[in-house]
Amino acid sequence: MNSISFPNIDNENLPKWEGDLAPLECIEIIEETHNVKSFRFKSQKDAWFQFLPGQHTTLFLNIGGAEVMRTYTIASSPTRPHTITITSKRMSGGVVANWMHDNLRVGDCIDALNIGGSFSVALDNPKKKVLLMSGGSGITPMLSMTRYFVDLAINVDIVFVHNAQTPEDLIGKYELDYYAHHQTNFDLHYVCDKAHAIWQGESGFLSAEMLARMVPDFLDREVYCCGPEAYMVNAKTLLEGGGFDMNHYHQESFDIESSTAQHNMAEPHEESLDTPEFSGEVVEYNVTLTETGKTILCPSNINILAAIQKQGIGVPFACSMGMCGTCRVKMTEGTVDMDAQGGLLKSHEEEGYILTCCSHPTSDVVLDL
Ligand code: FES
Repeated sequence: MNSISFPNIDNENLPKWEGDLAPLECIEIIEETHNVKSFRFKSQKDAWFQFLPGQHTTLFLNIGGAEVMRTYTIASSPTRPHTITITSKRMSGGVVANWMHDNLRVGDCIDALNIGGSFSVALDNPKKKVLLMSGGSGITPMLSMTRYFVDLAINVDIVFVHNAQTPEDLIGKYELDYYAHHQTNFDLHYVCDKAHAIWQGESGFLSAEMLARMVPDFLDREVYCCGPEAYMVNAKTLLEGGGFDMNHYHQESFDIESSTAQHNMAEPHEESLDTPEFSGEVVEYNVTLTETGKTILCPSNINILAAIQKQGIGVPFACSMGMCGTCRVKMTEGTVDMDAQGGLLKSHEEEGYILTCCSHPTSDVVLDL
């Protein structure tokens, strides 16, 4: 008779998962809403995941023969460390999310980068009262933080305000409603842009009046915010307008959900990404891009991504901080000074890949770009 095969969960004797250890194996796919799915993964080799709630990883997918990278916040909690869950929304033109929805199956394996990122309540010294604000699929770090708080029975007073387009677009609603009913100090508010007549929550664009009504003590809270750029700009404006001390405001530092390589290639940054702390003699080096057939000059105090963008050449990037891996490119000649913040696997570094957003040339350089 078949019996259950229990995995080893003895963390003392299990390696911590890192991207180089093993691919992620999809073990479950959950339909969250009509256009949102959660993909649950375990390490293909027994391992446990050590991360902080709110952090992210970057998936490497092969789509139509091309390797594509995409950064996703982990929605699950590090308190359940033997699997991680990524929640992704199907979007019009969304190459990676749509591919995952249509093609990723239980049993499939994909490579991913080490987990990293600085957006986490566990990295701060927050007040005992927090306000979690999320728009659309920006809910994922808030879900991770909420699950973490609940699992560890942390003494915290949470107000969770989540915005969605319609009630049918609310992600994690059953679980959050459960917490709202069973947890003390967990106050939950949904705001839907459009709602039908029977909807009993707030509806419309998040306004100052709405915020004051739902969270009258928002001035006393540590705020964590994630969502589309327009949502976060509005949230910041409302808080600042209400006299909030923005030293206690935290937001995801880049728009993970929309920052696909394709998006950024179409809209290269105009702003300088120079390294202000650079000291020493500035030397100009040639950076040759073999695929585009161009050679540009890059001073040693400017990162290679910025130098390329200054020439109006669109290249993939997302975080610009060495974390997400989107700007990864193979360097076939030359040397760089690189300050990667977890966005590059050791194995890829050994193969000659660099992250252009945090690499400064120390010689002439040739890139497969
Ligand atoms: S753009 Fe994210 S690592 Fe370079």
